[in-house]
Amino acid sequence: MNDMAPDRENRAAGLKGMGCSRKRVEDVRFTQGKGNYVDDVKLPGMLHGDFVRSPYAHARVKNIDISKAMELDGVVAVLTAKDLEPLGLHWMPTLAGDKQMVLADGKVLFQGQEVAFVVARDRYVAADAVELVEVEYEELPVITNPFEALQSDVVLREDLEGQTEGAHGPRKHHNHIFTWEQGDEAATNEVMDNAEVVAEEEMYYHRTHPCPLETCGAVASMDKVNGKLTVWGTFQAPHVVRTVASLLSGIEEHNIRVISPDIGGGFGNKVGVYPGYVCSIVASIVTGVPVKWIEDRMENLMSTAFARDYWMKGRISATKDGKITGLHCHVTADHGGFDACADPTKFPAGFMNICTGSYDIPVAYLAVDGVYTNKAPGGVSYRCSFRVTEAVYFIERMIEVLAIELGMDAAELRRINFIRKDQFPYKAALGWEYDSGDYHTAWDKAMKAVDYDGLRKEQAERVEAFKRGETRSLMGIGLTFFTEIVGAGPVKNCDILGMGMFDSCEIRIHPTGSAIARLGTISQGQGHATTFAQILATETGIPADSITIEEGDTDTAPYGLGTYGSRSTPVAGAATALAGRKIRAKAQMIAAYLLEVHDDDVEFDVDRFVVKGAPERFKTMKEIAYAAYNQAIPGIEPGLEAVSYYDPPNMTYPFGAYVCVMDIDVDTGVPTIRRFYALDDCGTRINPMIIEGQVHGGLTEALAVALGQEIAYDDLGNVKTGTLMDFFLPTMVEVPNYETDHTVTPSPHHPIGAKGVGESPHVGGVPCFSNAIQDAFRPFGLRHTNMPHDHWRIWKTANDLGLHG
Ligand code: CDP
Repeated sequence: MNDMAPDRENRAAGLKGMGCSRKRVEDVRFTQGKGNYVDDVKLPGMLHGDFVRSPYAHARVKNIDISKAMELDGVVAVLTAKDLEPLGLHWMPTLAGDKQMVLADGKVLFQGQEVAFVVARDRYVAADAVELVEVEYEELPVITNPFEALQSDVVLREDLEGQTEGAHGPRKHHNHIFTWEQGDEAATNEVMDNAEVVAEEEMYYHRTHPCPLETCGAVASMDKVNGKLTVWGTFQAPHVVRTVASLLSGIEEHNIRVISPDIGGGFGNKVGVYPGYVCSIVASIVTGVPVKWIEDRMENLMSTAFARDYWMKGRISATKDGKITGLHCHVTADHGGFDACADPTKFPAGFMNICTGSYDIPVAYLAVDGVYTNKAPGGVSYRCSFRVTEAVYFIERMIEVLAIELGMDAAELRRINFIRKDQFPYKAALGWEYDSGDYHTAWDKAMKAVDYDGLRKEQAERVEAFKRGETRSLMGIGLTFFTEIVGAGPVKNCDILGMGMFDSCEIRIHPTGSAIARLGTISQGQGHATTFAQILATETGIPADSITIEEGDTDTAPYGLGTYGSRSTPVAGAATALAGRKIRAKAQMIAAYLLEVHDDDVEFDVDRFVVKGAPERFKTMKEIAYAAYNQAIPGIEPGLEAVSYYDPPNMTYPFGAYVCVMDIDVDTGVPTIRRFYALDDCGTRINPMIIEGQVHGGLTEALAVALGQEIAYDDLGNVKTGTLMDFFLPTMVEVPNYETDHTVTPSPHHPIGAKGVGESPHVGGVPCFSNAIQDAFRPFGLRHTNMPHDHWRIWKTANDLGLHG
């Protein structure tokens, strides 16, 4: 039965396993119109929901009159908080231990807040009926600034009035949510007091929004006959939604099926639970027919989870020759009307305590104060692991400011403070244990690739030419070295609403040697169907092309915590490798039986087990799979399946070195990105082509955030950037050619040494773009200016520095 063995390399290449730039298998569907998104779900008799939303940022709701709306032909129901109250669903728990109104209960706290839910025959009728619902509001004073909120007599959350204790400890004021402290404050202050040099800076990381191309939505279908509730939705964590839906509704979990079909981008926007999900479920239960709710773009920008909005104040101390001795950081975090941040329970400010970055800083202290304001809730990790973007922006700006204070080159300052290779695993001052890194090698490679010294020389010449009046263009060199922390997380540290953050993979090998694997994660464009099959191909010897990957259906997939924070590869990827190894272990016993040798006398070789020392005697995985089902093997049960639930021992710590070269027109404020070099180290690389795609995407979203993307409010709490005319989404016009590069420093604790990558480029990209702008003006005295660096703000920076004559 044995075929002539093709050579080993050919057999390995045929598997398309790890390290291969396998083309994305999902793209055949996507490029041929066969994607299946929530709005593609169309069920017989389906009704459509639409929201009445508050035009005010803070107002008392005195009366809601639905009579005219109900008279409109085609309207089936209009739900208000009063209808949800008997079900206990007019408020819902948030991921951060707070509670949030599902529909306005007495007052509204942000513009665009959900007030009533209209259910109608079609979307157009629902939209018309929304206009007919008459709501009487009494305007209240609006607070959009967290510092003002902490001084104000106005109580935003009247439901919490008098409560001095919140989900994360004491509340200092009626608009205060929590204080979260990490590190040693006294020791840090002492170091600062005695330091040779201390640099201080305040910076605002503006409010922005993940803005996935597909907005949020759900279709709920309650079958009253069999008691089953099925919900299709834009869920980054479908199993969590199922458990929460069961706990809230009282429907037993086996009677709820949650399906995340294709998802058109998530970036953190689709982690939380929104009133639209709850209302479509309630409406389906009430009406007995399926109900669909799909947001429009303005609703998505105005009311679903925002990102950032951190006011950060830093102090960094060093010796005169640039060795950093301490770091102090205070954050005032604007959480909007409800604390709905999507962070692991014990981390109310996410992993902001990675803010010592890639540097060996002996002592540090971080305090974060969460505050309520009249803005939309959220606080998601927009393409980053929980608040890591804020942390990396903070430290990379502090390094630049310290370099100015010391009169030192910022590249050299980084280099002398990097954690050295021999210090890993490295215990950081704020508690994390970095698994592995080789920062100096990566940095040196980057500096050489861009000819850093040459760039600085050119920049100096440009400054002189500018001063002589020969050019109106300045040159900025943006530097960033970042360390991410991804793969939440060890269950002992990380849970969401009490649910431990492990993940899972279940694999079933069919008798003919092909397979299906199901995971607890859900791809939103990252290419899981391609890459997880590659891990299994290498681990089991079954070609990736013969493995189907399925995610997102809670009736079939093993329980998992979903995809966000680049956790898929570090957690589910590990589960996948281990499930593959379980398959291999059983296959080894079967092969030994078939070859009539002891288990220990066979060894795995790419796609087969061979008898040690007799390579001509072997059984391929195909043959083994067939035998697993069709041959009675004493002591071994039939079938070839495995499941693995993986609780990682630690996070993984990918890192990277980025350089951006920019020319800035001083008179128009228009920046031109001449060059962007990105070196990423995500440990073992599963699919280099997909990694490159992830880097391009992450950098483009970084460009957006650094150079213009913002959710801005006026003093009355009106959202000024609620459409894509005002909210910046970059196109090919703005996006430069990215140069990608890599080093490989495997994670020592991950079964295949892989770290996450999807979010690294965003985390490193934002400070790199920002640093390039700021660096251009450094020779003229700029120390720090806040993002977003849109043309107007860049022009204004030049103007404030007197560069317009
Ligand atoms: O959790 P999420 O999928 O967003 O992020 P990720 O784990 O960083 O993975 C993003 C994509 O990059 C997936 O398709 C991974 O399989 C792929 N990847 C890779 O090829 N090699 C790595 N070391 C890390 C991720």
